[in-house]
Amino acid sequence: MDSQLKPRILFTRDEIEAVVKRLAAEVSQDYQGKCPLLLGILKGSFVFMADLIRLLDFPLEVEFVKVSSYGRGRESSGKAKLVKGFSSPVKDRDVLIVEDILDTGLTTSVVSDYLREKKPASLKLCALTDKPSRRRIPVTADYLGFTLPDKFIVGYGLDWNQKFRNLPDICYLE
Ligand code: XMP
Ligand code: MG
Repeated sequence: MDSQLKPRILFTRDEIEAVVKRLAAEVSQDYQGKCPLLLGILKGSFVFMADLIRLLDFPLEVEFVKVSSYGRGRESSGKAKLVKGFSSPVKDRDVLIVEDILDTGLTTSVVSDYLREKKPASLKLCALTDKPSRRRIPVTADYLGFTLPDKFIVGYGLDWNQKFRNLPDICYLE
C-alpha cells in the first residue's frame, strides 16, 4: 500500500529555504540579546530546527520533546501525551516551541501546558506549516511559514508511517 503512494511537490526546497529565512529574520528581531530555549517537537521538527538555528546568530539552546498523538497513518487518536520531556531549566527562560505542523492543535497544547507549569519568562510558537481547517483546540503560531490545504504532507522531516522524512521538498501523497 505504502509503495503505491506517490509524493507530489507542494512546496519546493527553494520555497522552503526562503520561508525559513523569513522566519529566522522574524525570530532574530525578537530574541536578539536574549538566550532563548528552542524546543522542538519530535520527530517531525528536526529538519526545520536544524535549518532554522543555523540562521540565528545569537546564543540559544536546543531541546526536544516527544508527544504521542498520531499512530500509524493519517488520523489522530484525538488524544496526545508527552512521552519524552527534558531536563534544562525553563523557569524565567524565553522558550520558543518549534513545530513542523499545526493540525488539530492538540500536540502544541500538550507541550504548552507542560511548559507553563515550569513558569517560563515567555512562551511562543514557531510553526513551519499550519492546517487551520483542522483545528480543534485554539492555537495560533507567533511565527508561521506556510498555510496548508487539508492534505496530508510529508518530506522535510514529516513522515507517513515513518517514511519520506528525507524528501527535501514538502509533498503531499497521491
Ligand atoms: P496536532 O493534530 O496535534 O498534530 O496539531 C500535530 C502533529 O501531528 C502530526 N501531523 C502530521 N504529520 N503530515 C505529517 O507527517 C501531516 O500532514 C500531519 N498533520 C499532523 C505531526 O507529527 C505533528 O507534530
Ligand atoms: Mg508524524
